[in-house]
Amino acid sequence: MKGVVLAAGHGSRLLPFTSFRPKHLLPVAGKPILHRSIEYMRDMLDIDDIIIVVGYQRNAIIDYFKNGEDLGINISYVIQHTNQAHGLAAAVNLIEDKISNDFVVLLGDNLFSANLKKVIDLHTSSNAAATLHIEEHENPQRFGVVEIDENDNVISLEEKPKNPKSNYVISGFYVFSPIIFQMISGLQPSARGEYELTDAIQRLVDNNYKVKVSKINGWRLDIGYPEDLLAVNKHYLNEKTHKILGNIKNSNIVPPVYIAEDCEINSSTIGPYVMIEKGVKVENSEIKNSVILENSKLERVFISDSVVGTNSEVIGLKAHSLKVGDYSFIRNGVI
Ligand code: G1P
Repeated sequence: MKGVVLAAGHGSRLLPFTSFRPKHLLPVAGKPILHRSIEYMRDMLDIDDIIIVVGYQRNAIIDYFKNGEDLGINISYVIQHTNQAHGLAAAVNLIEDKISNDFVVLLGDNLFSANLKKVIDLHTSSNAAATLHIEEHENPQRFGVVEIDENDNVISLEEKPKNPKSNYVISGFYVFSPIIFQMISGLQPSARGEYELTDAIQRLVDNNYKVKVSKINGWRLDIGYPEDLLAVNKHYLNEKTHKILGNIKNSNIVPPVYIAEDCEINSSTIGPYVMIEKGVKVENSEIKNSVILENSKLERVFISDSVVGTNSEVIGLKAHSLKVGDYSFIRNGVI
């Protein structure tokens, strides 16, 4: 089965950390989010042929994964240009001529622990036109909501409803038969101006195709906001991912941390739950539960629960929950 990863979005909720790179390449314990989701598809779902739909900052994604050879899989790309139709259904529509059998779609900013192979198995054994992974959520209004019967068949779907018909929300993992392309072709944009996958699936239901859901349990992490980046890093940093590749002098490292290559850490305390990208210099500082992006320089900085952007320089600062944008300059607490 082919896998499709949707990674064209702007990541505007993650500004200022997505001005110079797509959110899908933000690091999680030493590896970009998208790297982790592609490894998940390869290892958990046995998918070795992946199409990535790219858009915003697409060259960074293409340069990173190339043809997938380094990961032992085949990766190809389809471009969703900003002047083309927006939305997930519009993104899926772009791959039509590359698909001849049932296929999997994964939203590229989601990370899963559940074994979603079972969703594929259910799809195949029930001969459905679409099968969605769903989860219970206390705020269903923020998602695509499904109404289901007692046999896990979908009765109706609605994107971001004001009055949700259930607490079951679409998680971001779908299996489709190619019939979905016919449903997409008749769609109208939603109130937010996007062609919604949720509406295309509703058209399947309206046309009496079988649409199933799977409620397999497990965590799902969705990287939407800077706080999520900290939470996801915290989740992934553990004994297995703890790694120090940079140069450490006269410092105290409190595990787990990830300190990339070409970093210089001097006379500082780092950790726990700190992810530092390559080329970062830290001196006389204390950093806890934070993410420091590439090539930044920190001197006399005492921070926790903070994200420091790429190529920033921060000197003399004490802060909690700080968000320093890429290429910022802070001296003695003044931005
Ligand atoms: C998208 C889908 C929605 C789904 C959600 C999962 O929403 O449209 O149906 O529940 O992903 O994260 P968006 O992130 O585009 O608001």
